[in-house]
Amino acid sequence: MKVFSNLAMSLDGKIATRSRELFLLGTPRDHQEMQRLRKQADAILIGASTLRSYKKPNLISKAKTQPINALLSTHLDGISPHWPFFQDPKVHRVLFVGHTLSPARAKKFEKTSELVLLKPPTKKKPASVQIVEWFKKRGTKSLLIEGGGGIMWDFSSAHLIQEYHVTLTPKIIGGATAATLVDGRGFLPKEILNLKLKQCRVIGNEIYLVYQALRSSLEATSR
Ligand SMILES: NC(=O)c1ccc[n+]([C@@H]2O[C@H](COP(=O)([O-])OP(=O)(O)OC[C@H]3O[C@@H](n4cnc5c(N)ncnc54)[C@H](OP(=O)(O)O)[C@@H]3O)[C@@H](O)[C@H]2O)c1
Repeated sequence: MKVFSNLAMSLDGKIATRSRELFLLGTPRDHQEMQRLRKQADAILIGASTLRSYKKPNLISKAKTQPINALLSTHLDGISPHWPFFQDPKVHRVLFVGHTLSPARAKKFEKTSELVLLKPPTKKKPASVQIVEWFKKRGTKSLLIEGGGGIMWDFSSAHLIQEYHVTLTPKIIGGATAATLVDGRGFLPKEILNLKLKQCRVIGNEIYLVYQALRSSLEATSR
């Protein structure tokens, strides 16, 4: 199974402003690139904070078969089952939720989505590993992580992202609390992930980068 990510980032490494509200960081060309990558994905995962900021419509692809639209959230707080994200009957939605989600809250989403209760995370089995194992069991061949920085940390710190697609955009966002490509606790020097540059395309004022992780624990997760 292939796990890859795609996000747009400002020159100073931010993927959103400190207010986390919706704005287009990339150009229409970047949007095309996102569509190209979505076509390669059987499933696309976003974090709850991203959905809350976008109230996003489906993570649609121009391919005939729509990818699974997956979401990671502890309690689905601040998310409404009436948002466009939950409306398209052609899309299969999977909500990965914390084990402490109340049955009453779960019920509100059961009509439109499949709910997967995650086990309490352990060092060996954090949420990201459980999610990858769930997709592997379903025969999913490719999972695209579209951010934000919170879930990027969950997956990259578990060495689960093999390929990082990053669009470097000619903007400075700043802000110590603005979301970055990978947030979370962060690495210490001896833990830092090393990557290899696979592709670099300059298109207009943007740079399209593809980096490959030098270490992956994907084979180690159970099949
Ligand atoms: N530039 C880009 O390409 C791009 C792409 C995507 C997003 N963004 C922007 O990035 C911002 C959002 O990024 P973010 O870093 O704040 O958040 P995020 O990664 O989208 O979502 C974080 C949320 O995911 C859930 N989560 C994470 N780990 C979990 C775990 N182990 N178990 C259960 N739930 C877990 C939690 O949801 P709950 O709070 O519900 O528990 C957490 O608050 C938005 O402004 C968005 O617009 C930009």
